[in-house]
Amino acid sequence: MNIAMLGSGFIGRFYAESIQGYRSKDKIVSIYSRREESTKKFADDYNVAFSTTVMEDAINRPEVDVVCIALPNNLHEEAVMLCCKHKKAVITTKPLGRNGEEAKRMLLAVEKAGIFNGYLEDLVYTPKFIKAQESVKKGALGRILWAKSRETHPGPHSDWFWDIEQAGGGCILDLGCHCVEITRGYIGKDILPVEVMCWADTQVKPIDAEDHAIGLIKYENGAISQFEVSWTFRGGLDLRDEVMGTEGTIWINSFMRTGFEIFTTGKSGDYLAEKSESDSGWIFPVGDELNELGYNHMFMDMFQSIEQNKEPKETFYDGYVVNVILDAAYKSAKTKLWEPVKLDIWRGRTGVSKDSHLEEYDAEHYLVKEEVTHYGAKKLILKNKASGKIIQRTL
Ligand SMILES: NC(=O)c1ccc[n+]([C@@H]2O[C@H](COP(=O)([O-])OP(=O)(O)OC[C@H]3O[C@@H](n4cnc5c(N)ncnc54)[C@H](O)[C@@H]3O)[C@@H](O)[C@H]2O)c1
Repeated sequence: MNIAMLGSGFIGRFYAESIQGYRSKDKIVSIYSRREESTKKFADDYNVAFSTTVMEDAINRPEVDVVCIALPNNLHEEAVMLCCKHKKAVITTKPLGRNGEEAKRMLLAVEKAGIFNGYLEDLVYTPKFIKAQESVKKGALGRILWAKSRETHPGPHSDWFWDIEQAGGGCILDLGCHCVEITRGYIGKDILPVEVMCWADTQVKPIDAEDHAIGLIKYENGAISQFEVSWTFRGGLDLRDEVMGTEGTIWINSFMRTGFEIFTTGKSGDYLAEKSESDSGWIFPVGDELNELGYNHMFMDMFQSIEQNKEPKETFYDGYVVNVILDAAYKSAKTKLWEPVKLDIWRGRTGVSKDSHLEEYDAEHYLVKEEVTHYGAKKLILKNKASGKIIQRTL
């Protein structure tokens, strides 16, 4: 793939490392960013033939196969519309829009233009997530009841994130978008999110947006998901997921406790990992940050999908659903009520009720639980179907 990169900042550079850092055949051929100096530096660092401070000029080039948007949230829509105008395949970083309306406009525009569209939600491409999701799909956890995702860190690295107008929100939008898509991935992206309850506050930072929030999302099949997000967390980047089903449980720690621990007095002063707050004492690096964060698998899916003329795992439609869920979270944080998820466009299933949770033991009883005790007895807890009475039997 020949890629036009829009944005040469934090994520633009992570993307560039992932695209070009592993002897890949994909190449960034055009770079746009706001300031001449950083555009040139990016072009030098990644050997990019064309650089410009005019967004449209970076997109509208014959050699460009796909445009990768790595710009502040308020510029995603403008960039997407230019890709539609020039009929270029487009992949954009998260969140798709600053809100559901913006995301919907982008979704409808790319579909009208008939261009490939991919949503760069890297955290559903991490090796751990991919493996865990396969297990869930094969039924290792049974029916998924609850999925929780947590992303907290000490706050973002650029001014525009902290400005509610440019960013569109605080940590709910910035980090909650990851958590929502991770938990949708476990519960099932075809299951309708119904309503959201959210607490949010600005506990520490002198900003208009929220810097800490917790939310619950109810799904039509009775499953519940939970997000915990913060820009005030101290200690680094905390990325953890938990999934609970009728047959099993998954716990994932993606970043700070990956089974890799180093003690150092801090002599080298080297970069350790994203948002790391310490480089001495006991520290918790990640082996290959690009891979652990999912960037490699994500671009592989995007570029292969373009080549094979198929939809990637994550599309603008997913970005739109995430934005609408987060709109409900913002509303709930204000009203303190469960707020409906107002999806004008829903392409998943509807009418999926809570699966039957009753396990039959015999004609008269349901099984509540069976257990072997420390004294060697097998105990059964049963419910009589007719009377509703709970009894126990020791075998
Ligand atoms: N894991 C992830 O997926 C992830 C991580 C970080 C950021 N992001 C997303 O990537 C996007 C960019 O974030 P970032 O961290 O790279 O930001 P950044 O501030 O580091 O970089 C922004 C880039 O946009 C360019 N730009 C153009 N016009 C601008 C303007 N008016 N104001 C500010 N910058 C302008 C800058 O020159 C710079 O190259 C955001 O949508 C953010 O949510 C995603």
